[in-house]
Amino acid sequence: HIPLPPPYRIKVVEAIPFLSARERREAIAAAGYNPFHLRADQITVDLLSDSGTGATSTAQEAAAALGDESYAGARSWFRFRDEAADLTGYPHLLPVHQGRAGERILFSNLLGPGRICLSNTHFDTTHANVEMAGAEARDLPCAEAADLDSAEPFKGNIDLTTLEQTLAGPDGPRVGLVLMTITNNGLGAQPVSMANLEAAAAICRRHGIPFFLDAARFAENAWLVRQREEGYQDWTPRQIATRAFQLADGCLISLKKDGLTAIGGLIGLRDADLFERCEANLIATEGFSTYGGLAGHDLERLAQGLREVVDPAYLAARAEQTARFARMINDAGVDTVAPAGIHALYLNAGRLLPHLSPAQFPGHSLGCQLYLDGGIRSAELGSLYLGTLDAENRLVSPAPFELVRLAIPRRVYTEEHFAYVAAVLAGIAKDPERIRGYRIASAPARLRHFKVRLEPL
Ligand code: F0G
Repeated sequence: HIPLPPPYRIKVVEAIPFLSARERREAIAAAGYNPFHLRADQITVDLLSDSGTGATSTAQEAAAALGDESYAGARSWFRFRDEAADLTGYPHLLPVHQGRAGERILFSNLLGPGRICLSNTHFDTTHANVEMAGAEARDLPCAEAADLDSAEPFKGNIDLTTLEQTLAGPDGPRVGLVLMTITNNGLGAQPVSMANLEAAAAICRRHGIPFFLDAARFAENAWLVRQREEGYQDWTPRQIATRAFQLADGCLISLKKDGLTAIGGLIGLRDADLFERCEANLIATEGFSTYGGLAGHDLERLAQGLREVVDPAYLAARAEQTARFARMINDAGVDTVAPAGIHALYLNAGRLLPHLSPAQFPGHSLGCQLYLDGGIRSAELGSLYLGTLDAENRLVSPAPFELVRLAIPRRVYTEEHFAYVAAVLAGIAKDPERIRGYRIASAPARLRHFKVRLEPL
């Protein structure tokens, strides 16, 4: 079996900087040891996010030249709308500038004080938008997700028993919606099975609760279903994605991921009344309903991106690239959450740095070391992001795991970049004891990881 290379070649390149060790030391200190405060021109390999960071294709850029920038009724909107309607099957579609705008608009209609949003796992901005609507975000991950090393194929699933019990119990009437994140970004990029989606949809229908998908990585979830779930081997990724949308009452999509564009998002709905209420909010806060904060050229890139992202050759090569990267990292002596998903790998920093307690933020320490040693940017997913702090910013309850996410931009880095990152990790894994912990110098109340400042211990 000869693995096929990616179905594209590189035509335009962007230079990346290499800083000296001393420049990196100064840069991360000036950033308050928070990678979100680094400048892009201080970073050699940027694995902070797979959102809006992908490369576009010649076909997308050619389409962008046709962008119709009319305020209302632009041709570009209809091209995008037809593509999205065909993919999702939803009769009502609203464009938004990115995923979280869709969250705000939908939640302001379905949630409010005292209400609850249930999810397999809320992404960070989704969590914040639920709370800003006055509601509670409650995660119900499946039990298999707690074992980071097992080979279970669908650790992104929701716990169906707890879902049923919650909806049937005293909190049931307070639940405004159930939101399934595919793939589960907060939990190791693990996919959700079609069986789990079907069962969750049936439970929601029985209790009369709206069932939505947070489908930022709908194509990657579809690919993992095709690889791992019995009965889907003969389906195309696009057919699997369409089937997933069909199971839900609507969707929120950040198109900065599987839309293969720098910007964009979508709300998909079946309910005409809900659509009218969301549309009024959209017009007041994002833009008219045929552009929703996007330019015509963005809509054109998106229409083409939605076609390219479900190409089996593209998805196979991308999944294979992530799997190879995982093997390189594991060979370097660092464990990743298994099995490898597609859009990111999650390093087990707690296991690599057992000499650091959660209060010393081992995930954060590993992330800083990746920058100090290699100019590599990553994102902590551990106690700095999820732990509870007291008034003096000391950790009182840690996160379940101390992880570092290496997000993989689409069509951007080559095998050599991944080998470089693995080599830097190998250097760290040879002598992990030299790595020190951190303490928080200042932190905001909400969405802490974006604005926190730290000091090395
Ligand atoms: N839902 C999921 C599952 C996401 O991963 C994201 C963004 C959003 C919603 C929000 O979308 O950024 O377009 O407003 N995730 C990025 C990440 C930022 O790095 O994982 P957005």
